[in-house]
Amino acid sequence: MSVTVNSDAGSEPVAMRDWLGTSWKMNKTVREAVTYADDLVAWAADSDVDATVCIFPAFTALSAVAQALARSTSPVPIQVGAQNMHWADAGSYTGEISPLMVRDAGAHAVEIGHFERRASFGETDATVNRKVKAALRHGLVALVCVGDSSSVRDFGVVNEFVGMQLKVALSGVSAASLQEVIVAYEPGWAIGAGGVGASTKEVALVHGHLRSVLVDLYGEAPAREVRIVYGGSVTRENVPDYAAVSDVDGLFVGRAAWDVSEFVNIIEAFCAARGPRSAPSQEVAVR
Ligand code: PGA
Repeated sequence: MSVTVNSDAGSEPVAMRDWLGTSWKMNKTVREAVTYADDLVAWAADSDVDATVCIFPAFTALSAVAQALARSTSPVPIQVGAQNMHWADAGSYTGEISPLMVRDAGAHAVEIGHFERRASFGETDATVNRKVKAALRHGLVALVCVGDSSSVRDFGVVNEFVGMQLKVALSGVSAASLQEVIVAYEPGWAIGAGGVGASTKEVALVHGHLRSVLVDLYGEAPAREVRIVYGGSVTRENVPDYAAVSDVDGLFVGRAAWDVSEFVNIIEAFCAARGPRSAPSQEVAVR
């Protein structure tokens, strides 16, 4: 659930904005990506949802999408992120994209350690950590993905597994930088075609554990400012269930959000399920 935070010393506590994102994975040409972004901007012009929206196109469409989103005058923040990046600023890394390039293309955020990258492209906890630190060094919001496989789940060690992933990902990250971190819990068995969304009970247990790991690492107040979002077979139908789970601060959606009208439905369903906020929320720093 959303929590309240102090953005400035002496200010009234304000509600932390929920966060709703979609990664398009390896989908959409530049033209398709811009059409989607334009449609999202048109929707946001008439919307007052109390959430930050973030889309993660392929690298090839990043710059064009950033330019399309820059035309938005809506109070609803619509941001753009990269799906991955290298940790080095530059160098002989054929085929890689650096944080400088991601920033240069207009990205605000970067997704790091998605299950598919860990499972298919050799991403490790150690490389995730290097990328998280590089992202924060370059002023990018780091969307840190953690997630268990079905065998981890069968052995009953999900909390230990994702807790370790999170601890390593954040090794060397200061409490001051934590405001630029979003944690996504994305179980491998739940994502993609054939996946089945985690039950609300599972999500509550894992998110609660991830929060407790953050509290152990950073203390109560900084840990409460980190958004923990769920991803894995999110659909318009199950959005209200996830929105009601404690320690769910948003959703990270794949397939169901590749159609812009369905993403809008998901955003609106999530915000409607959250109900009216007790205090007007605001973005904290650049989040
Ligand atoms: P899905 O993907 O919503 O298509 O299951 C989620 C993700 O991988 O982020």
